[in-house]
Amino acid sequence: MEEPALLDELGLVTGLRVLDLGCGDAAIGRTLLAAGCRSYLGIDGSTEMTRAATATLAGTPGRVERMDIERFSAPPRTFDLIISRLALHYVDDLDAVLAACRHCLSPGGRLLITVVHPVITSHEARQSTEQARTDWVVDDYFHPGTRQRDWLGNTVTWHHRTIEDYVTALTRAQFAITALRECPPRPDRFNGDMAALARRQRVPLFLLLAGSRA
Ligand SMILES: C[S@@+](CC[C@H](N)C(=O)[O-])C[C@H]1O[C@@H](n2cnc3c(N)ncnc32)[C@H](O)[C@@H]1O
Repeated sequence: MEEPALLDELGLVTGLRVLDLGCGDAAIGRTLLAAGCRSYLGIDGSTEMTRAATATLAGTPGRVERMDIERFSAPPRTFDLIISRLALHYVDDLDAVLAACRHCLSPGGRLLITVVHPVITSHEARQSTEQARTDWVVDDYFHPGTRQRDWLGNTVTWHHRTIEDYVTALTRAQFAITALRECPPRPDRFNGDMAALARRQRVPLFLLLAGSRA
């Protein structure tokens, strides 16, 4: 559901040097290279995902490196666009990561991130993930910090932050915020499944923030 908002905000990528933090299988890398970006580097901490990303990028100039997002650094003006899709809520020290992003972006360069929406990361009330969810609980919203989640059969640690926390962190890292979007479901993405659309209209799942390096 965050893809339409992400693609809107990406706009033209022709000639851009792109860094993707927490790239997963790097599917977006192939899309961006096909759309004319000059280079694409994906970073991911998972061996399995970097293997998948390498396969996705085969035959393209795109590259992938296995590394924790928190350890990534590059010289000033290395990238024109940094994206991070659904990865930064796994990161503890967001300030350090945003400072590293600012450091390696060219002046006027852009940062575009999506995270699991804070109303979802705030609290988990359900016992089972086996059935489609029919209710949601927002609680402990103003208690930022770690949350253990049962996610696709594994226990993962998310870092809950409020929307205000994300905006403040970007501003503190001297990014001028250019977009804040809550990624509403787009009806044309539901193949006529109005029940699924109605369900996805109940709560936001994703938050997108974009900023430019002053
Ligand atoms: C939900 S997936 C999203 C993948 C991809 N960005 C996408 O949108 O398809 C999150 C990815 O971030 C990676 N990840 C999470 N925490 C990380 C960290 N601290 N350092 C590096 N990679 C991390 C995971 O391995 C996973 O591939």
